[in-house]
Amino acid sequence: MEQEIIEKYLKAGKITAIAREFGQQLIKPGASVREILDKVETKIVELGGQPAFPAQISLNEFAAHCCSDLTDTTILQDQVVKLDVGVHIDGYIADTAVTVDLSGKHGKLLKASQDALEKALALVRPGVTLAALGKAIQETITAAGFSPVRNLSGHGLGHFEIHARPSIPNVDNGNQNVLKEGMVIAIEPFASTGAGTVQESSPATVFTFVSDAGIRDPITRKVLEEIRTYQKLPFAKRWLEKKFGIAKTNFALRQLLTKGCLEQHPPLVDEARGLVSQAEHSVIVLEKPIVFTRG
Ligand code: CO
Repeated sequence: MEQEIIEKYLKAGKITAIAREFGQQLIKPGASVREILDKVETKIVELGGQPAFPAQISLNEFAAHCCSDLTDTTILQDQVVKLDVGVHIDGYIADTAVTVDLSGKHGKLLKASQDALEKALALVRPGVTLAALGKAIQETITAAGFSPVRNLSGHGLGHFEIHARPSIPNVDNGNQNVLKEGMVIAIEPFASTGAGTVQESSPATVFTFVSDAGIRDPITRKVLEEIRTYQKLPFAKRWLEKKFGIAKTNFALRQLLTKGCLEQHPPLVDEARGLVSQAEHSVIVLEKPIVFTRG
């Protein structure tokens, strides 16, 4: 990989780590989820990055993809809080997540996903199979008495592409494909006290642009112009609401969804409503791998 590109990943990683730690400090009883997300995203831009996806906070049984719209009044109390942060520099993406336990009761659940992440990271090198990474994650989480979330996975990080190949399993799925030198991947184990599978919930507040075919309405076209500036990276409904107001945003999103112009990323919830913890780092696969979101 060219040095110039590595530098961009490293810069994105550094900003992601600072933003994650900054957000982590804001996660306290009484804090507004929406305000934390706004502050984390502002911090990313102040540091010279761009959000690679909207900052997200998912609580308790929600594993991922929870993102405040402008009307969200959720206040933190005693939840298990996952903060997921992504930053890109010229399309080179860093992705990281952390869990904070405000209940003081679920330290073991948090440790399970952290330990699983470290076990998997320790295996990363060119030639290791995807199944071996999944096996390490599965065994660590199972040994701690929890279930790995099997239908969520880590992923490759492509240029302006968050969920690139390969998919990094959280269980031993038998996949004998191997990591190759120069791949950039995010590993993200989830540990659950419940089913260990997630299902889609509603409503979605995160979307990705797919196509602009067939949009004639002027308001919707205006909103679409803004959406095009996010490239093909996920964006938050809240970002549009701030620019266009809630009513116009709802109107435009309805049109765009009907015409198949957007992909939705609805909240993902444990099927048995168990509690879920997550840990995530991004890594450049080299003989000496670089975990570039540690900070
Ligand atoms: Co990720």
